[in-house]
Order: sequence, then C-alpha cells, then structure tokens
Amino acid sequence: MQAELAELRAALAQDAALLGDEVALEAFRVRYLGRKGILAGLFLRLAAATPAERPELGKAIHGFQAEVEARLDAAKTAVMARAESTLPPGFDPSLPGRGPWLGRRHVLAAALAEIVDIFRGMGFSVADGPEVELDAYNFEALNFPADHPSRDAQDTFYVDDQVLLRTHTSPVQVRYMEAHPPPVRIVVPGRVYRNEALDASHAAEFHQVEGLYVDAGVTMGDLVTTLQQFAYEYFGRQARLRFRPHFFPFTEPSAEADMVCFGCGGQGCRICGNTGWIEVLGAGMVHPHVFTAAGYDAEQVTGFAFGMGVERIAMLRHGIEDIRLFLENDLRFLSQF
Ligand code: DAH
Repeated sequence: MQAELAELRAALAQDAALLGDEVALEAFRVRYLGRKGILAGLFLRLAAATPAERPELGKAIHGFQAEVEARLDAAKTAVMARAESTLPPGFDPSLPGRGPWLGRRHVLAAALAEIVDIFRGMGFSVADGPEVELDAYNFEALNFPADHPSRDAQDTFYVDDQVLLRTHTSPVQVRYMEAHPPPVRIVVPGRVYRNEALDASHAAEFHQVEGLYVDAGVTMGDLVTTLQQFAYEYFGRQARLRFRPHFFPFTEPSAEADMVCFGCGGQGCRICGNTGWIEVLGAGMVHPHVFTAAGYDAEQVTGFAFGMGVERIAMLRHGIEDIRLFLENDLRFLSQF
C-alpha cells in the first residue's frame, strides 16, 4: 500500500505539471477528488484495513490528499494569472460591465404623452390628421375667409395655393366631425408650422394638442373646468389658469389662457416680456360656421375647443427658458429629462 502511494505521488506530480487551463483543472479535480476518484478509493480501502494498519495508512492517505489539494490550488492560481496577463492593457475585469446604450423619450414626446394621458382620463380619445394640409381645412372651414386679416397671424409654408403646412391642429376638428356624428370628445396631438423668425419663444415648427368636445348643451363652464382640471393634474394643485377674452375666427366667444411665469413668479421678467404671465392656450365655443362646414346642425349641438402649445407647457413645467433647446438634439440638455 505504501509503495502504491509512492507511485500515485509520482503520477500526481506528472499530472499536475500538465494543468494548463480550466478544463484540465476540472478533469484533475474529478479524477483525484471526485466522488468516485482516486482519494475516495483510498479511503474505502482505509476503512477496510486492519486496526493495526490503520493509523499509519490514514496518515499517508491524508498526506496524499493534502498534496493533491495543494497542487490543484497552485495550478489554479497559475491558470488565473495567465488569463489576466492576456487581457488587453487598461482592461480591468473587476469593473462593473457597461450596459447597452438605452435611449429615452424626447422631453417633448414625454410631455405630449402625459398631456394626452390626462385627457384620456377625462374621457377624451385621440385623433390624428395630416401635417401637409389643405387651405380648405386649415383656414376656410375654420371661418378664415381668403384675404381676411386673421390669416396674417398664422403665415406658413405653402406647397401651392391650396396646399400648405398646417399652422395649427384645429383643422382636425373639421376632419373628425366630417367623419363622425356627435357627440365628440377628442384630443389631437401633433406638429404644426409657422413662418416665424426663430427666437427664445418662437420656432417655425412646434407642437400642439387640440381638444374638441361637442354634444348637446356643452358650455363655457365645461371648458374652463376641464382646462383647470388639466392644469391641476399636469402642474400640481397650485396651478392657476387666467382666461382673457381673445379673438379666433373659429370660436365665439374666444379666450386665451395664461399661467404665472415660471421665471419670475408673476413679477415680470425677460421670459414673459415683463407681463408676469405666459400664454399657454387658445380656446372658445365652436363657431356655428365651423359646425356647418363640418356637416353638423349648429342648432342641435354646442361645443368647446382648445389648442395648447406643447413646448410652452413643457417650458413652464421644467423651467426651460429657450424653445430652441427642444430642436438642437444636444444630449447635455436632453439627458436631464
Ligand atoms: N388654433 C389656435 C392657434 O394655433 C389655438 C386655438 C384657439 C385652438 C382656440 C382652438 C380654439 O381649438 O378653440 O393659435
């Protein structure tokens, strides 16, 4: 038995010298230390030995086991050291891995989704219309006659005399009513265009969310409470809307709504042009001419409509001072949201 152990020891030295990678390490471990391995066999024989043989033999087997484990540990350390030395320079395997690059929603897309979601909660559904629009929908059906001065406030880019880039989402009111009988309760998120000189509060393309609610007996009170409820939900309980009389050809009466300026809290500053207020939307009761143009009976229904500027609303919410930031794709700006 002792002679056998001497042979095993010699074989062990040879085997251990060949341990070059993790596969070999594992095979070695199974061969010597596994459940049916060489050591397990030796211990079985130890159990069968006579009491006289046992102490000496046990000592020898335990010594052999310690040698196996020491060789295995040494080989393991060597294999790992070699793996590390083949890493590219500067590569630190102890650093956490880099996750895949994940994009995020643009701050405006997120604002649009949130606005729409609030109106959905109040029972509005979402409608859509073309950005390249007919004059007939963008102006005529909304009660802007050709050559009327009210068109001057919404100059745009013309494809030809009849086709233009829509200046607002309001034409979708008419398109939707043409295709659906009352009652109507929709919001229309989308991009709009104006022939504007670019500055901190004006862009030639921006976004609106239009709203239209038509039924028997809809009132201006419904309009005000709906929009105030929106303001609470989007901005928080302190939000106040101020309604001022205004003119739009497609509503009568018409109003604009302002919110207290985020820059100065109402004192007046550069951002609000010293008024203390920032205009966020236009609204009013749908003009009978618009109902008629869409094929509705203006004697049977009333309705309110509104159109809000998404950039303005996002600027108020986040304290963004320049509308151009939305368009520049500067990640230092975008990654803040
Ligand atoms: N379309 C108007 C604009 O872009 C905003 C507006 C005003 C929309 C009154 C409406 C409304 O629906 O009723 O200036």
